[in-house]
Amino acid sequence: MARGRFITFEGGEGTGKSTLIAGLVPALRDRGISVVVTREPGGTPLAEKIRELALNPPDDHEWSPLAHALLMNAAREDHLVRQIRPALDRGLWVLCDRFADSSRAYQSTQGVSMSVLKQFERAVVGDTTPDLTLILDAAPEDLAARRMARDITDVFEAKGMEFHQNIRNAFLAIAKDEPNRCTVISALQPVEDVLANALTAIDALGAQ
Ligand SMILES: Nc1ncnc2c1ncn2[C@@H]1O[C@H](COP(=O)(O)OP(=O)(O)OP(=O)(O)O)[C@@H](O)[C@H]1O
Ligand SMILES: [Mg+2]
Repeated sequence: MARGRFITFEGGEGTGKSTLIAGLVPALRDRGISVVVTREPGGTPLAEKIRELALNPPDDHEWSPLAHALLMNAAREDHLVRQIRPALDRGLWVLCDRFADSSRAYQSTQGVSMSVLKQFERAVVGDTTPDLTLILDAAPEDLAARRMARDITDVFEAKGMEFHQNIRNAFLAIAKDEPNRCTVISALQPVEDVLANALTAIDALGAQ
């Protein structure tokens, strides 16, 4: 049984990650590919509990950036062990809404050193690195209307424009560092065009 492909979706809030995944599922199934959709932080019962604790801490309490990084990695370990690796081993393709690049982008922007974050990543992710990472990119001010249309739901969404700009830059730096794994897609295109760009990158992966 050939191992499945591991595809991750990254980018700031409201860039369209969930919308893209929802469009890709039927497109991949049409290609005869069996997919599992999951998300981070979360994806397993334990990791979903950590998600709640990390993103919606009790009133007046705030995690330190390092504690946040540890929580995300604890959740990721459970997710990898119980869901992602078994699915890939069964030949399923795993589509994961955010993964380790979000830890790099968010926790480095909050002040955790990249070398610490990469050590955590090496220990937890090991060789289960994504085959492809699609990074949805746009200037945060161009997404403000999209984000405003939704309720503020967690500690990161509530932050100001400069924070979102730093997150964008962090994702672009990751794409520049790892161009073979990462494909940047403009998030300001119509949904169908974002989907077409993603399928082009995925089809190139199949040909490798
Ligand atoms: N290409 C697009 N053009 C216009 N609107 C879009 C596009 N993609 C998504 N949207 C809309 O923008 C909003 C945010 O999209 P979505 O929830 O997919 O983003 P997200 O990246 O998953 O956000 P989050 O990080 O908060 O989960 C939704 O209302 C969605 O319908
Ligand atoms: Mg989403």
